[in-house]
Amino acid sequence: MTQDVREDFADPALRTDPHPVYAQWRRETPVRRVKLPNGVTAWLVTRYEDARQALTDPRLSKALPVGQTTDSALPPAVGAAVSRHMLSADPPDHTRLRRLVSGAFTARRIEALRPRIEEITDELLAAMAGRERVDLIDAFAFPLPIQVICELLGVPAADRDSFRRWSNTIVAGAAARDRLPGAMQAMVSYIRELIAERRAQPGEDLLSGLIGVRDAGDRLSEDELSSMVFLLLIAGHETTVNLIGNGVHLLLHERTRWERLRADPALLPSAIEEFLRYEGPVETATFRVATRELELGGTTIRAGDPVLVVLLSADRDQQRFPAPDELRMDRAQNPHLAFGHGIHYCLGAPLARLEAQVAFGRLLARYPHMRLAVAPAELTWRPGVLMRGLLELPVVPGPAA
Ligand code: HEM
Repeated sequence: MTQDVREDFADPALRTDPHPVYAQWRRETPVRRVKLPNGVTAWLVTRYEDARQALTDPRLSKALPVGQTTDSALPPAVGAAVSRHMLSADPPDHTRLRRLVSGAFTARRIEALRPRIEEITDELLAAMAGRERVDLIDAFAFPLPIQVICELLGVPAADRDSFRRWSNTIVAGAAARDRLPGAMQAMVSYIRELIAERRAQPGEDLLSGLIGVRDAGDRLSEDELSSMVFLLLIAGHETTVNLIGNGVHLLLHERTRWERLRADPALLPSAIEEFLRYEGPVETATFRVATRELELGGTTIRAGDPVLVVLLSADRDQQRFPAPDELRMDRAQNPHLAFGHGIHYCLGAPLARLEAQVAFGRLLARYPHMRLAVAPAELTWRPGVLMRGLLELPVVPGPAA
């Protein structure tokens, strides 16, 4: 099947509520050729089964460059210092890089962080007490995962604000095109300084461990080390915030959900999986590029073509999920793709789930009367097609319990 290139993926109207449009694409052109805001022409994969195939097909590489991207505006040394990470690698490099940190992210190691995550959560919630109105993204959903990943890695607290600014610009991609090279440069200089400092004064953190590996032999190059830090910091900054933000929005938007979850906290784990499915934090997986011709959903993808899997769309596919447009907090079978699938399945999934459990559990208990401070139509969504999340979530916390 041949297709004309379509421009509609860049339409800002799609940001507010992309779901009806994706539903139409799943029906009409499930593998669809589009021109992205950054000028790249790519195939969008919108159905669940095709998405799973694309995420595991070894003919779709993560290591190849994606045409003319905004990254090409960067000096090569800067590009290399942030792009030699596991999410831009195929086996065997992927296997080697992932193995170096997978031990720090096992369910058991992550569970040990629970008391500290509870402490950070309680501090953030306490700071909201007595305030008439707060932006829940700014006061809670952002700082919680940031603080956790920074402590895990060993990044000083004082640097978090600048980091957040750069990181926002980077994931906004083409939507913040002018600021992108500056943000990348700043982030690379920052990471290099951080590595130099920690090299001089090692601690107990993950970064010191990685520097130890780097300096002990040839299992990790200097660019791979800085890229790893870059990936972990970005992933830790940009994703869980949307799980918390989107979830709280869904609960407050229809208050019966909030009351139900408050009355029955045992529902929390399945409710969190359902937030991930229904309004997942990551809208599209990262680019893959075909190394050879392949068929996807009856469409021929040629060697060299970029492919983008739309996780948000796959997780609303009625071929896979009964009543996909209903938020069912007790959904029993929920094999969503919000954390991806295959060898690049999210390394941080146990951490994100734990953060979400603590965040939702404590928030519901502490501020039982919380409500939205604006009409749902006034909420604005983040630009760019990589992440699905709110820019702000103004709430009235109400009295603390
Ligand atoms: C990979 C989602 C939190 C670290 C991924 C992928 C997705 C994802 C969809 C695969 C992307 C692809 O295949 O193109 C999420 C969501 C999160 C979350 C929805 C929160 C709710 C985190 C956290 C970390 C993290 C907290 C940790 C520090 C990673 C890493 C990879 C990854 C390192 C690359 C894995 C690989 O290439 O093998 N994540 N993530 N993520 N995530 Fe997450």
